[in-house]
Amino acid sequence: MCSNLQIGRWPDRFFLNSIHHTVEADHRSGNREGCLRGTRRDVFLQLEDWLEDKQGQNVFWLNGIAGTGKSTIAQTFAEICFADGNLGASFFCSRESDDRSNIQLIFPTLAFQLAHSYPRFREGLLKLLWTNPDVGQESPCSQMEKLIVGPLKETQIQTLIIIDALDKCEDQGTRSAILSALSEHVDQIPNVKFFITGRPANVVLSGFRLPSLHPVTRMFRLNGVERSLVDNDIKLFLRTRLTGIAKDYNIQKDWPSLHDIYILCWNARQLFSYASTFIKFVSSQHYHPTKRLAVITTLPQNATLKRMSETELLQVLEKAFIMGLFAGGTYGKSNSQDAGTGWYRYGSEIRKNGMGN
Ligand SMILES: Nc1ncnc2c1ncn2[C@@H]1O[C@H](COP(=O)(O)OP(=O)(O)O)[C@@H](O)[C@H]1O
Ligand SMILES: [Mg+2]
Repeated sequence: MCSNLQIGRWPDRFFLNSIHHTVEADHRSGNREGCLRGTRRDVFLQLEDWLEDKQGQNVFWLNGIAGTGKSTIAQTFAEICFADGNLGASFFCSRESDDRSNIQLIFPTLAFQLAHSYPRFREGLLKLLWTNPDVGQESPCSQMEKLIVGPLKETQIQTLIIIDALDKCEDQGTRSAILSALSEHVDQIPNVKFFITGRPANVVLSGFRLPSLHPVTRMFRLNGVERSLVDNDIKLFLRTRLTGIAKDYNIQKDWPSLHDIYILCWNARQLFSYASTFIKFVSSQHYHPTKRLAVITTLPQNATLKRMSETELLQVLEKAFIMGLFAGGTYGKSNSQDAGTGWYRYGSEIRKNGMGN
């Protein structure tokens, strides 16, 4: 992405690059994939409606527990809006990166990107930086006022700003400092829309309850979406990915079966993160996908009841697979009792001892 502004005179570039920002956080950085086409229609219809409604609320908060698909939706929304010329800036927070979880970097990074997107914004920001070079050290509230609101107010630019996974940025307070800043200033920039995603963690919830933020926020709860809609999306995802794998391995046409998809979807428990972990597991380079799939379709019914991270789930599946091999289970046979030997043993181990980590 815009690691170095190639535009303007060198003193301008020098000043802009002097903002303490990160180049890792925007939607073009990293290797996040967007939504599979055809999934999440309900969310995108609402987002389209919100974006086009110029008189409506300025903030959209997409919330849901981990693994429900928030970041993937944010990625696709950013790509669509970027292609349409509507995206001003984006910041995808992540605990795996110091910079992407640093609350002090959010507004400077958004300002840096806005300067790249809009020459008029850049002029306003440069003026501010000449007189205020240390603004990056100030509180998020003051940063927002000076770096974002000032130049946007002056230029009346109409744009969209995306912040993904707000709950993943380090915030020592009991209320999100980013949301407090937003609540102070959002009414001064009515042409700007903010799309924010995150788990409904207390620090975020209390921010959205602020009297000046609450009325201007439209909320969408991914966990509130009708189960059949989520299941249909997950089935479409599983079928598409497994059919791709079947082609790569030249597997017979009736694999995966409808029953396989049904069981996988049931085991995913409305979590896209589980469904995508199943696909990662099945598409191993070392074993045949049909044998790997049989491990998941013979999971004990309550195997995923205890919430696991994607890494934990993958470990559980790998262990079950290996135990199945040692127990002489021949995964992939039509006899599911035989196929499940190792897993059943491991499943009862989990029930007795927890995850064992
Ligand atoms: N609509 C979708 N289409 C395809 N894959 C998806 C979709 N939603 C989520 N995923 C996959 O599921 C996993 C978890 O999704 P993610 O967006 O990271 O969840 P969250 O941000 O809510 O924790 C990711 O690996 C992602 O690729
Ligand atoms: Mg996420």
